[in-house]
Parts: sequence; structure tokens; C-alpha cells
Amino acid sequence: MSLIEHIHTDYLPKHIAIIMDGNGRWAKQKGLLRTVGHENGTKSVRQTVESSAELGIKNLTLYAFSTENWNRPKLEVQTLMKLLVSSLKKEIKTLQKNDIKLNAIGCLNELPQKAQKELLEVIEKTKNNNRMCLTLALSYGSREELINTVKKISIKVKNNIISPENIDESVINEHLYTQNLPDVDLLIRTSGEQRISNFLLWQIAYAELYFTKVLWPDFTKEHLYEAIIEYQKRERRFGKTSEQIN
Ligand code: FPP
Repeated sequence: MSLIEHIHTDYLPKHIAIIMDGNGRWAKQKGLLRTVGHENGTKSVRQTVESSAELGIKNLTLYAFSTENWNRPKLEVQTLMKLLVSSLKKEIKTLQKNDIKLNAIGCLNELPQKAQKELLEVIEKTKNNNRMCLTLALSYGSREELINTVKKISIKVKNNIISPENIDESVINEHLYTQNLPDVDLLIRTSGEQRISNFLLWQIAYAELYFTKVLWPDFTKEHLYEAIIEYQKRERRFGKTSEQIN
């Protein structure tokens, strides 16, 4: 029985988020430049996006560039931005063919003009696709997102659009960058690190966490299947007892 046959299609995670880590170490192990690691990381992005859509995953969010990543060497940042632009240009066909809608979260106005333009173009062109929503987290930090959310709600409170006693989870959700996305069900991090690194802190409140030692450029669709199979073995209790769930 192949791996994919172990996946129950009626109990798929609605939203998978991935911290794609280990590009630098992958390159170092091979005596290559870190940037080559990122280039190879784009192949795993493509495979993960395609196989998620094929499986029937409705939402996939990838941590492509954090607010902290701006502090990396200039050349590395430039390479990552160039890779973003070239991938968007190249993969628009894949997105259209697979009926995938592109979305982006983060401080998008901090991205180079060229990247912003390309991103907005692909978002516009794919806006009516509905098999899967692919969200790229770019110049994204969860604390920044929460600060931004508090500011937006505060302005509405000040202008009497929202009253403080009516602020609940749904109000917070509606003001996050991820406003139209469901909570994350499964969070995957590659490369053996077991940290969240300022990624979707609010949205992963009840997510199942899955850590694998595989470095991101080595991550294949079989690794994705393994993560989903593991997710499907877990009992999600959302604070209830095992007896209440069963
Ligand atoms: C982490 O590896 C990875 C990143 C900071 C960027 C992820 C980018 C890609 C996979 C390529 C471009 C993506 C898109 C969506 C076009 P690391 O550099 O932190 O690795 P290390 O921890 O081993 O140094």
C-alpha cells in the first residue's frame, strides 16, 4: 500500500501551514552557497503546492520571509526577493492549471516594488480560482500582525464603530491579515528546529504541531503525506476529555 492510500480524504486538515526551514544547512552540507539552498527550496514549494491541491487541502500557508529575515546579508535578501519574482512569473501557469488562488500576508509594502507588482498581478489573475488558497507569508511577523490588528480595532472603537464589550474572537479574526482563512489545523516545520518563530501565533491555538528533521529542499510530497498521516492519528480534544470526543 503506498503512502497516499493511508490518507483519509474525509478527515483532511482544512489549513496546513509550513515553516520552510533548512535551506542554508542543506547548501552548507553540500559545500554550496546558501542562495543555492533557497533556489532548491523553490522546487519543494512547487511540489508541496501541487500535491496539497491534488489531495484536496483547501488552505496552504507558507512562511516565505519573516520580518526578522530583513536582517540577513544583503545578497541573501536580494536573492530571496528575486526568487519570489521569478517563481511568481514561472508558477502562474501552475496556479491557473490547478485552480489555485494566491494570497499574501505580512507587511507587503516593505517588499521591493517589483515583487509587490508581480504579487498583486498574480493575486488579481487567480482571484476566482477556488480549489485551494495558497497564502505566502512575506515580511510577516505574528506580533506585528497582532499590533496591526489592535490598532485597526482601536480606531474603530474610537470612531464608535465597535464597542469594547463586543470585541470577541470573531472581531479579532476579521482584523488579522488572515481574515478569510480558517484556523491552522496542522503546522509543519522542517529541519529539526522545534520553534514557532513568530508565525501565526493566534491562528495555531489548536493546531497539531509536526516537526521533521528533513531539510526544506529535500521535502517531497511523500514527507507531506507522512505529516498528514501523523495528523490523522492524533486525537484533537480542543480542551474536552477523550470520552467527550468519542
Ligand atoms: C529558511 O531556511 C528559509 C527561508 C528563510 C526562506 C524560504 C524561501 C524559499 C523556500 C524559497 C522561495 C520561496 C518562494 C515562495 C518563492 P534558512 O535559510 O533559515 O535555513 P538555515 O536555518 O539552514 O540557515
